[in-house]
Amino acid sequence: MEWLIDNYFQGNGKKIDDLKTYWHSDPKRQSLHDEFIENSLSNFYIPYGVAPNFLINGKDYCIPFAIEESSVVAASAKAASFWAERGGFKSEVLSMRKIGHVHFTWATDTQKVRTFFYEVKAQLISETDDLTSNMRKRGGGIIDIELIDRSDIEPDYFQIKGIFETKDAMGANFINSILERFAQIWKQKAEESNMFSQTEKKSLLIIMCILSNYSPECIVRTEVSCKLDELFNGKGDFPADLFAEKFIQAIRIATIEPYRATTHNKGIMNGIDAVVIATGNDFRAVEACAHTYASRDGQYRSLTKCSVEDGVFRFWIEIPMALGTIGGITNLHPMVKFSLELLGNPKAEELMQIISCAGLAQNFGAVASLVTTGIQKGHMKMHLMNIMNTLECSPEEKVKIINHFKTDTVSVAAVTEIFKKIRGDVKKEK
Ligand code: MEV
Repeated sequence: MEWLIDNYFQGNGKKIDDLKTYWHSDPKRQSLHDEFIENSLSNFYIPYGVAPNFLINGKDYCIPFAIEESSVVAASAKAASFWAERGGFKSEVLSMRKIGHVHFTWATDTQKVRTFFYEVKAQLISETDDLTSNMRKRGGGIIDIELIDRSDIEPDYFQIKGIFETKDAMGANFINSILERFAQIWKQKAEESNMFSQTEKKSLLIIMCILSNYSPECIVRTEVSCKLDELFNGKGDFPADLFAEKFIQAIRIATIEPYRATTHNKGIMNGIDAVVIATGNDFRAVEACAHTYASRDGQYRSLTKCSVEDGVFRFWIEIPMALGTIGGITNLHPMVKFSLELLGNPKAEELMQIISCAGLAQNFGAVASLVTTGIQKGHMKMHLMNIMNTLECSPEEKVKIINHFKTDTVSVAAVTEIFKKIRGDVKKEK
């Protein structure tokens, strides 16, 4: 910390106090956090809230969100209540398979590599028994391995593709350890084989062994539906059929127009990431996977879809995500443990369902606002709070300012002006 203050804060020792303010009061808990990463100095807080009223497959959930952006929790909770009155979310995990590769180049005949692969395939599996025994006891393990010839995109490029089930673990360490073992065995068996010349043997180069964060076969599908005339419960001059028409068109635009698709999916990830973080999962992996999936046909598109058939409106999301409810920080981070307990200590499969609901709810809430009132109305209320906090308004000043902006448009300049006026008034009153 001293090095940092000397080199980047002109020796201002007060900055050390800033860091220390965010240390946990219990030194044991602080050292737990310190040890999650390297060069740790302090903790970085983001708000932790809950969105109640999620009815998922007939079960009621109150979902924890860790997010710094205002309106996300409110929009999700509101959408969840709306759908709870219409049967709730129906969610199903379609498959839980994960993938990893040994990437290698080999200047030899493809057919020979293929023959060699079938010769050593059983050994690749059996010689990883020590690494897979615990996972096999839990019902997971190696599902299959395949040889993939990718010399169509890169000269002499092949992959050994491993397909895995990792049950309630996210599985990155498990998969990567097995892939590294595959690579060792592959290299050693190639060396021992009399199928290849010395030159061919020398040309085998293992490039890397790593799981793929793209897991299109670890996927969940979640849906809400209702009769078309039950779709809108808003007030005023917004009839259900106009709402449906605009909503459906908005989803279509997000499907065909990548500029809109990006913002649309960003809204979905507002809900998804917040729960992924609160439950101690890897949001970068979930994000990367979602966006690759959104581009799977060559164009970036909406992750949600909707349809109207026989007067029934359906709105759904299909999204791959690799999650864990054991391992990683799930059994260590006190807030993660709290979140998982709040959710009834779900298995990974159930957590996939819960998190996809948070994404679908968030997207429904955002698009419903966009096609009716616009999002600024709700956003501005929270924006106003942020401006007032930046100005360090007192509770009485906040009440006065909020009353003022019930009718006026919020902007930093307008709030600052009113604040100065009120502070002047308050001073006079005192
Ligand atoms: C803001 O964080 C997210 C939205 O822009 C999503 C959307 O436009 O659908 C409101």
